[in-house]
Amino acid sequence: MSGDGDARLGGRALQRVVYGEETIRRRVRELGAEISAAYAEDGQLLVLGLLKGSFLFLADLVREVRLPIQVDFLVASSYGAGTSSSGEVRLLYEPASGLDGRSILLVEDIVDSGTTLARLLPLLERRGAKRVDVCALLHKRLPGVTVDVRWVGFDAPNSFLVGYGLDHAEDFRHLPYIASL
Ligand code: IMP
Ligand code: MG
Repeated sequence: MSGDGDARLGGRALQRVVYGEETIRRRVRELGAEISAAYAEDGQLLVLGLLKGSFLFLADLVREVRLPIQVDFLVASSYGAGTSSSGEVRLLYEPASGLDGRSILLVEDIVDSGTTLARLLPLLERRGAKRVDVCALLHKRLPGVTVDVRWVGFDAPNSFLVGYGLDHAEDFRHLPYIASL
């Protein structure tokens, strides 16, 4: 695989490249065009990147959006360390931009159980957002996951993926492709 001899891997093996650079680039371009068309009448869109996983996807996506937009980020607390899943998601970093009355595009790296989004969306709506749509690069389409995701880059295999923002124990985020561990 393309990881062979890749100094970025620090000698660790990845199983296979699932989405290569050119595949990602083409899909991000398509998403950018669809998003540009969808919000053309909408005034100024606020694009909110959910850190850290969305950082590369967001950076590429916003460069394909031909609209006047604003960009901000949020950091959500992770919800579980084996504890009950009943806790509210908390924002560790608040977007500086006011959300009141705004159309928001929330950009996420991957939808797995859907828990993060299921908790975050009501929170953003409670802060007065006019509407919140989600654009996720990857969606594992696990059974029972019903959270509403308007744009999906790829329906992902149910394996652990890294690269292009996604990490394993904070490694691999910087890879320009997506691979399975
Ligand atoms: P959810 O709340 O279960 O949908 O989890 C979403 C979050 O879990 C993502 O934003 C990622 O941070 C992380 N995650 C889920 N699956 C993967 C994966 O395959 N690779 C890396 N991170 C993942
Ligand atoms: Mg994430």
